[in-house]
Amino acid sequence: ADALKVALAGLGTVGGGVIRLLDENRDLIARRAGRPIEVVAVSARDRSKDRGLDLSQLAWVDDTTQLAHADADVVVELVGGADGPALALARATLAAGKGFVTANKAMLAHHGLELGAAAEQAGVPLKFEAAVAGGIPVIKGLREGAAANAIGRVTGILNGTCNFILSRMEAESRDFADVLAEAQALGFAEADPSFDIDGVDAAHKLSILASIAFGTRPAFPNVQVSGIRHVLAADIAEAAALGYRVRLVGVAEAGAGGLFQRVHAHLVPADHPLAHVTGATNAVVAEGNYVGRLLFQGAGAGAGPTASAVVADLIDIARGEFGTAFAMPVDALAAAEPADSGER
Ligand code: HSE
Repeated sequence: ADALKVALAGLGTVGGGVIRLLDENRDLIARRAGRPIEVVAVSARDRSKDRGLDLSQLAWVDDTTQLAHADADVVVELVGGADGPALALARATLAAGKGFVTANKAMLAHHGLELGAAAEQAGVPLKFEAAVAGGIPVIKGLREGAAANAIGRVTGILNGTCNFILSRMEAESRDFADVLAEAQALGFAEADPSFDIDGVDAAHKLSILASIAFGTRPAFPNVQVSGIRHVLAADIAEAAALGYRVRLVGVAEAGAGGLFQRVHAHLVPADHPLAHVTGATNAVVAEGNYVGRLLFQGAGAGAGPTASAVVADLIDIARGEFGTAFAMPVDALAAAEPADSGER
């Protein structure tokens, strides 16, 4: 069968991971996808940079937005940023009638409904497993695995940088500022690291997760957000004495007042699954009315895990197995009242 041709924007940690993964697992991916998956064109900021990748067989496109018009079936966007080149590329790709795969949580949190509508109108896939919790298949898990359930609540540790910091503060009785640089050295931090420590990155992911779990539009402005700058080692020690751990947790909950979405430092009872999640790990707990409590846990960032999620989406597309971008058609989401977090 014909190969699925991929144009790739962004050759950072994850972009490099996608090229390596497609190369190393080439045969098994082709068997599972029913046809080969080949990167044919790339775009990144600096052409001359040595990334340890052989790009000699690939077309290089200087203007990222023009990647939409490369000779490819699907565009993979790993550039990041809610607006700017990533959004221009998404719009141009969907308008050109091609599929779009992205890890860009900020863009989806702000423009998800618009992009979902454009994809449905064009009849092409918009896939974003990598945008939430990296390698953990939580979008597929909630969208497909728990499709038959009414979900009451989704909670999650959605930022590896914060969880690493809080875990270290706890284990070593150190203060926030002291551990911050170490966390950033992991290479998981956002381009703007305040997005990590002020809870914005977790809120981007929560708004996407909530839209999948509750069948609502992603509505980032409705998430109440605070981060972990103010947490002291003494707070963590005091919490531990009372039987709690401190974690940055995102919560989305359906209630009488609508959908309640918030991200802040929580006291988690020591016997709760999220209390056992340490280091730069992510975890999501969902409660369905028939399936019961589900726990998804794993690597929420990094080249290998995030590339795995991107390529899983490409395999779905190669097989022609993709539905709507969200848990239900965009028309149904758009017709729903905007999810209102309310004040509680
Ligand atoms: N900055 C994010 C984190 C990377 O620390 O979890 C993955 O989105």
